[in-house]
Amino acid sequence: MANDTRPIGVFDSGIGGLTGFQKLRALLPEEDLIYFGDTGRVPYGTRGRDIITKYARQDANFLMHFGIKLLFIACNTACYAALDTLQNELPIPVCGVIEDASLRACKQTKNGRIAILATAATVSGHVYSDFLKSLRPDLQVLEQPCRLFVPVVEAGRFDKTDPIVQILTQEYLAPVRAFGADTIILGCTHYPLLAPAIAQAAPEAVLIDSGAEAAIHVASILAEKGLCNFSGHKGHVRYYVSDSIENFADSASIFLRRPLEGPVERIDIEKF
Ligand code: DGL
Repeated sequence: MANDTRPIGVFDSGIGGLTGFQKLRALLPEEDLIYFGDTGRVPYGTRGRDIITKYARQDANFLMHFGIKLLFIACNTACYAALDTLQNELPIPVCGVIEDASLRACKQTKNGRIAILATAATVSGHVYSDFLKSLRPDLQVLEQPCRLFVPVVEAGRFDKTDPIVQILTQEYLAPVRAFGADTIILGCTHYPLLAPAIAQAAPEAVLIDSGAEAAIHVASILAEKGLCNFSGHKGHVRYYVSDSIENFADSASIFLRRPLEGPVERIDIEKF
């Protein structure tokens, strides 16, 4: 079998994509991984589609300079806006986070009622509900924008006992409970950190982590396409950001609950 030592590129609008990145790292310890977090332009989830597509293209162009063998778009909002575009434009496999979580939700639901929690931009595109209904037209789907989750998590507030977290989860999960969803897709990079609080507010539902599901898919695509790294050593990890390195390292250690595994460099993403 061929040994493909080229790195995998991963991008997100900021630090949130580290949740999916961490899963990828755990599943593929021998692969070299390059993460770009667009920390200078986050959030994407409050912006319009054209701007998000422009940013996603620049993020992908930057990573293509490393000769990557696969691009993993860890950001739900970037996938909503630009997954199809980048899949058409790039000569390598491009994996997003929407389809695998949807497939899993379809298998998981017993009552056919699925809720999606996501940014306002992702909800506006109905990408999850369109894909779910293409799989199973009988499904009932509720898309719930959760505008304040990202800033709250970025401020390090995601403990389920935190009063702010409780107020927000009650507000956003009330319609989900009324709808009777038995399955909830966490359709944003930041929401896995809120999983205990979300589970507390909707105890009857099963939660599906879109980044984790997608990471499993990336591993299977590598194997299927003969792109695995078999060199037998632990892969290297590098991070790039478009704003302060220190802020990224601090926030990342909150997200990952451990320090970063490799060097961080700042770049000017507007050049790409
Ligand atoms: N990474 C984004 C997502 O998964 C959340 C943060 C943002 O709005 O940029 O949708």
